[in-house]
Amino acid sequence: MATVISSGALRELRRKIEDRTAVVGVVGIGYVGLPLAVEKAKVGFTVVGYDRNSARVAKVNGGENYIRDVADADLASAVASGLLRASNDFESLGMCDVVVICVPTPLTTNRDPDISYIRAVTEHIARHLRPGQLICLESTTYPGTTEEVMLPILAATGLVVGRDFALAFSPERVDPGNKRYTTCNTSKVVGGVTPICLEAATHFYGQTIASVTGVSSPRVAEITKVFENTFRAVNIALVNELALLCDRMGISIWEVVDAAATKPFGMMRFDPGPGVGGHCIPLDPFYLAWKARQYDFQARFIELAGEINISMPYFVREKVLRALNETGRPLRNARVLLIGVAYKRDIDDWRESPALKILRLLEQDGAFVDYHDPFVPEIVDQRGASRRSIALTPEALSQADCVVIATDHSTIDWRTIARHARLIVDTRNATRDVPEAKDKTVLL
Ligand SMILES: NC(=O)c1ccc[n+]([C@@H]2O[C@H](COP(=O)([O-])OP(=O)(O)OC[C@H]3O[C@@H](n4cnc5c(N)ncnc54)[C@H](O)[C@@H]3O)[C@@H](O)[C@H]2O)c1
Repeated sequence: MATVISSGALRELRRKIEDRTAVVGVVGIGYVGLPLAVEKAKVGFTVVGYDRNSARVAKVNGGENYIRDVADADLASAVASGLLRASNDFESLGMCDVVVICVPTPLTTNRDPDISYIRAVTEHIARHLRPGQLICLESTTYPGTTEEVMLPILAATGLVVGRDFALAFSPERVDPGNKRYTTCNTSKVVGGVTPICLEAATHFYGQTIASVTGVSSPRVAEITKVFENTFRAVNIALVNELALLCDRMGISIWEVVDAAATKPFGMMRFDPGPGVGGHCIPLDPFYLAWKARQYDFQARFIELAGEINISMPYFVREKVLRALNETGRPLRNARVLLIGVAYKRDIDDWRESPALKILRLLEQDGAFVDYHDPFVPEIVDQRGASRRSIALTPEALSQADCVVIATDHSTIDWRTIARHARLIVDTRNATRDVPEAKDKTVLL
């Protein structure tokens, strides 16, 4: 890319990024922000992780890791070297040359975008904005957020975007639990408010990431991210809908998916399951659907995919009910052992997990439900009541009228489950290679 930053404070920023003297502030040090903060410290930047959660701040400063995708040793050595620290003193944001925002973007109770976190952080930044700063939003959001929400707040300071400070959007694509693709080797998309903003942000990300694709505006980068997540939501819904049809037709969806996956082109494997979870797939597409309505546009694929994926825990309840019925037992007073509450394999994130819905539905119907999840020792429900993961013992398994597999963590011993359980409802086909499971397992 030709250099468009020719003079002034942003030129100085370019130099600081190059010689690693730039101070990087990462606001929101959760699943996205902490790995990013550690990566930037690893290449020599001085990094301050800002969070309003004091417990997280204290942990980072004590060198204690709380995000599974971050290596304990990497965090500890970044802190020990003095390159990484955390703070909840937002007054010091002005000393940062680059501020990367990784705060949550949930939905309101009406399923509308809640960008209050982005707004609050931008207001903090605006109070300390100075020439030579690059502000980059990474939180997933609807197209328009950077320019329609953030820019007016920052521009009200009197500083000029693209001249005094740079503003860009670059979505985080981290896939928790993915060992192959992490924060440092997943390519990035960047959209700047002006060409100078794009150059500053591309230059910054290019220090640690080999492939950075610049697009013409933040809106393009914002919609790209939501499209990526919508792609997953729609394809998961498609295979889930096929699972519902196959169930009616007495066909194994797993056999169909395995067979279709042998096609070397024009096909991409998606597996059916108990629904979708986490803070991306169930939420992000609704950010786009909401924005689309402002343009008199109904994002029908998104709505339909949401409808199907949300219905899956109800289908799992029906499967459990039917499976128990086959053994002559009602769901009322049945003992159910739920295996896995994380929303997907080998992670500890149980936000929006379909397993929680399954648990609630089974209890509503009078079942007694325990859960086992080696990654999630405790869960807290909406009313604040907590329950703990129980040990996966032969007794716990044999005492259950039905074992429901909601998450296929790779560390779970499926053979032990197959040996001791009386009845298994397996929503992930986790028992596919366990011959002992065959005659007591109902698949999705
Ligand atoms: N988790 C993922 O897999 C993933 C992947 C890609 C993108 N994203 C997106 O990244 C964003 C962050 O997600 P996450 O999973 O890291 O969330 P998270 O909840 O793990 O972390 C967010 C952090 O921000 C902090 N925070 C909230 N308000 C704040 C404020 N005003 N000032 C400072 N800190 C504040 C919270 O205390 C928390 O520690 C979201 O927009 C999400 O959609 C997440």
